[in-house]
Amino acid sequence: MESLQNKKERAVFATKFAAVATTVGSAVGLGNIWRFPYEAGIHGGGAFLICYMAFVFLIGVPVLCSEFIMGRQTRSNIFGAYRKLHPRRPWYLAGYIGILASLLILSFYSVVAGWTIEYFTSSFLGNLDFSDTATGHGQFMEMTTGWRPVIWTIIFLLCNFLILAGGVTKGIERVCNVLMPLLFVILIAFCINSFTMPKFQEGLSFLFRPDFSKITPSVLLGALGQAFFSLSLGLGCMMTYASYFSNNTRLGRTAVTTAMLDSLVAILAGVIIFPAVFSFGISPEAGPTLVFEVLPYIFNQLPGGAMWSSLFFLLLFLASLTSTVSMSEISITYFCEEKKMSRRKALTVSSLIALCGGLLCALSFGPLSTVKLGGMTFFDLFDYCSSNICLPAGGMICSVFTGWYIKRSIIQKQMTDHGKYRFRMIGLLVFCLRYVCPTAIFLIFLNSIGIL
Ligand code: PHE
Repeated sequence: MESLQNKKERAVFATKFAAVATTVGSAVGLGNIWRFPYEAGIHGGGAFLICYMAFVFLIGVPVLCSEFIMGRQTRSNIFGAYRKLHPRRPWYLAGYIGILASLLILSFYSVVAGWTIEYFTSSFLGNLDFSDTATGHGQFMEMTTGWRPVIWTIIFLLCNFLILAGGVTKGIERVCNVLMPLLFVILIAFCINSFTMPKFQEGLSFLFRPDFSKITPSVLLGALGQAFFSLSLGLGCMMTYASYFSNNTRLGRTAVTTAMLDSLVAILAGVIIFPAVFSFGISPEAGPTLVFEVLPYIFNQLPGGAMWSSLFFLLLFLASLTSTVSMSEISITYFCEEKKMSRRKALTVSSLIALCGGLLCALSFGPLSTVKLGGMTFFDLFDYCSSNICLPAGGMICSVFTGWYIKRSIIQKQMTDHGKYRFRMIGLLVFCLRYVCPTAIFLIFLNSIGIL
């Protein structure tokens, strides 16, 4: 069934399921399965998890609601949304933060997604040999360093291009509807398998037993960035998706469902990774390569390991595509609607920009590993600037704008679907948007640059 109907002006998701599946499709991706475990690993496990969960629900959900409200009310991209709601002030400039963030994220995300394709093909062809740590490590280094990642990054960006060239209607959704549930089932199966790991207990206490003394400014900023990254928040992505929601998609419910499913997937990933990390004697602080270093050992232990491994990396690759498709949409709609380019041209321009960024990031683990700006490789820098700076800043602007400048009647209308449902928490939502979210984000920023 085609769940998007192309109306003359703008497509609309036909079912509520499609709306949830698409937002979850955007939110769930490498952020949960690759980025969450590695961020939790370098930031002390439990301490990070607790801050992350607090930020998802205290800041993430209200900001998600505000993006939904702005998107569906105006039925436009981030620029159009700010402009329509406040034509006389340059709030729309926040859109540039979104575009910058989306291009930076697309660049490094494509590299990691490229690794997943490489892992998929190697496992499928039976070449992934992680039978002992020495060969495993050697293979891993060969796959992620050097020039090879460049090819996979290009292949990934090409897949992204092809899906997008199919248009909003055909491309995005078909993939989401079928595959997200399958990924979920497979993650649960691997979680159960985790119970058999010798250091299962140790892994779980690392993740779930918070050591509050480990909460430092960098843990707070990291957790905030991860919450925004994982929920695809702060760059207008959810705003654009909400502009395709039908008038009876319940915004509050969709926001909470998305946040819950998204965090659940991240926690499942943690439960899979950390017992294995301790059991195989790998450091939880390995950084961006952690998951790719650990997972093959897990698969290797399973009967039919190559099959599990291929299936898993295939699903992870597809989950990454549903996320990159959503972030690419930001720059494409910008070039189309603001710069009046044709969709194909807009797509080509943004893919080329992402390709240049992607090449820098792909080489960051090999030939460019010594090129550092502010102590970070291109890969780390792109990740840090987008997740820890642009996204929270974009979210802060969106929350202040919705809290202070959008009429309460509009918020009421959107949150109740034109009065069809009751939404009792409007006061709380506005309070969070006006005070809690902006203050919290601002304090975390100050804290991280050492002012607080
Ligand atoms: N939320 C996605 C993930 O977890 C990443 C993403 C970020 C997607 C920003 C869109 C916009 O993988």
